Amino acid sequence: MTTVDDCRLIDLPKISARQGNLTPVEGNKDIPFAIERVYYLYDVPGGEARGGHAHKELQQVIVSILGSFDVILDDGRSRKIVRLDRAYYGLYMPRMIWRELENFSSGAICLVLASRLYDENDYIRDYEIFLKEKQKS
Ligand code: TYD
Repeated sequence: MTTVDDCRLIDLPKISARQGNLTPVEGNKDIPFAIERVYYLYDVPGGEARGGHAHKELQQVIVSILGSFDVILDDGRSRKIVRLDRAYYGLYMPRMIWRELENFSSGAICLVLASRLYDENDYIRDYEIFLKEKQKS
């Protein structure tokens, strides 16, 4: 069973130069899965929250490319809040962790690297169902 302690910050490579910084991310090397999909959240209005679901199989790494936001992690027993505010580290989330993203700073950009293509059937969007499924796994 996955727990919030399986969620961890991953240091990403940072290539610094006088001209600025560059962070490459390679699947199965810098992060622990092959990257099948990338998406990003931006123009999040002040006070809005995102997430509010778990994934049956999907693994993700979340990076704050610009600005900051909080990720609230919940495994049905414990909760943990992780603030993301740098482009050179990411938060790894295994399958079956309930997550919410909130407290976005103005202009924040959240990059998500995902292990699978989009599949609505992989979502659990009801917290009570998540708790039941979590007890089974
Ligand atoms: P959702 O994952 O619920 O957003 P968040 O967790 O950030 O609040 O997705 C919002 C909508 O976008 C939903 O209708 C599904 C759609 N969507 C895609 O079509 N493809 C994707 O890769 C993702 C992540 C979402």
